[in-house]
Amino acid sequence: MAGENPYIRKVNAKRPERPFTITFSDLGTSITVDPSKIPYDRTGLPGSILELALGHGVEIDHACGGVCACSTCHIIVKQGLQSCNDATDDELDQLDAAPGTAAQSRLACQCIPDGTQDVVIEIPAWNVNRVREAPH
Ligand code: FES
Repeated sequence: MAGENPYIRKVNAKRPERPFTITFSDLGTSITVDPSKIPYDRTGLPGSILELALGHGVEIDHACGGVCACSTCHIIVKQGLQSCNDATDDELDQLDAAPGTAAQSRLACQCIPDGTQDVVIEIPAWNVNRVREAPH
């Protein structure tokens, strides 16, 4: 699911101009973002960590479809937070409902790196959906 939430303010973010990496430290994987391919997946804000992850086959839970209406996409930005847009009041309101938040907590669907730094994120352990259907 993808779309826009008409009840929240628009997010203004600088778009990346050069490739950069996002490392998912607890998953042991990294992706390299090609700015010319944004939007990759159209779930979450364009260029958001959620959209970039899904576009590279890295799954992050996103119960509301990436429209800032839940907190299942909670991530902790361990490195590169300075290169991301500031959290809006709407994002902070949703993060209030997330367990295990830290000073670097963000919603992956609202957090947009500008590409000036490589980014390292952690998905809180409680939020990693380790249950997957076996291939049929
Ligand atoms: S997916 Fe619901 S807030 Fe990000």
